[in-house]
Amino acid sequence: MKLADSVALVTGANGGLGKAYVEALLNAGTNRIYAGARKLESLAEIVSRDPHRVIPIQLDITDAQLVNDAAVSYSDVTLLINNAGVALNYGGFVTNPDLKGARTEMEVNYFGTLMMCQAFAPILKQNGGGVIVNVLSILAQATSPVIGTYSAAKSAALALTKGVRAELVAQGTLVVAVMPGTIDTEMSKDYAGAKVSPVEVVQATLQAVTDGIEDIYPGEQATAIATQLLSDPKAIEKQMAALLPTAQA
Ligand SMILES: NC(=O)c1ccc[n+]([C@@H]2O[C@H](COP(=O)([O-])OP(=O)(O)OC[C@H]3O[C@@H](n4cnc5c(N)ncnc54)[C@H](OP(=O)(O)O)[C@@H]3O)[C@@H](O)[C@H]2O)c1
Repeated sequence: MKLADSVALVTGANGGLGKAYVEALLNAGTNRIYAGARKLESLAEIVSRDPHRVIPIQLDITDAQLVNDAAVSYSDVTLLINNAGVALNYGGFVTNPDLKGARTEMEVNYFGTLMMCQAFAPILKQNGGGVIVNVLSILAQATSPVIGTYSAAKSAALALTKGVRAELVAQGTLVVAVMPGTIDTEMSKDYAGAKVSPVEVVQATLQAVTDGIEDIYPGEQATAIATQLLSDPKAIEKQMAALLPTAQA
């Protein structure tokens, strides 16, 4: 896909990575960018960069009505970036028994992304194929027991991504899975280790969109895990298990 000819829709466009997507798309010459957020006022800053090309839209991806209305109203979209996501439950599956947070993670990261894919697949077909980008996490492939329910929700979203890719190949839609490690945004503000910058994740994504690459692992952390998963997946499971405080005691 040529980014300069595209019309993009970015969910969670007020967040750390979402804003970086909008900025990079502006720089790439994208015709128009629909910037989605739950609260319109949270988009003021990013819209001010280019009010002619950045169109703010109110979009909670867990609200079926809003999602379907968006597909009707923004039927010129050729590049859908499903970036919105939440991480609510820090802790293990057993040690943090907060089912409410776990269900919301599934609602946003899996069901919200699913609804967006369902609503926009016919639009992309009508517009010649287009591209869906699903922002997942390396934890979709390597469960972290210290952020267990989020890993599970991203794993569900990875299964969704592979299935949607298979379904939409016939209509010429590229479906890209973005699987970074920890990114330097609000979501990971309490994480002390190394993080990849939002700009690096966005650059890798837009390169994949341009070159037709299906799976990407931006940043050193994600690349190392993805490489080891190919040769020794059990070793990764053990490394992840070692993150638990009980394993370190
Ligand atoms: N940060 C990391 O370490 C990391 C690592 C790997 C993958 N990711 C993924 O990267 C994506 C972007 O996250 P981020 O790092 O930029 O974190 P962030 O700054 O917290 O942004 C998350 C965005 O998702 C939006 N959102 C949450 N629930 C929503 C809903 N129901 N409908 C629409 N938008 C919703 C948030 O909007 P509000 O402001 O309204 O809450 C916010 O714009 C997420 O999918 C995340 O899982 C992050």
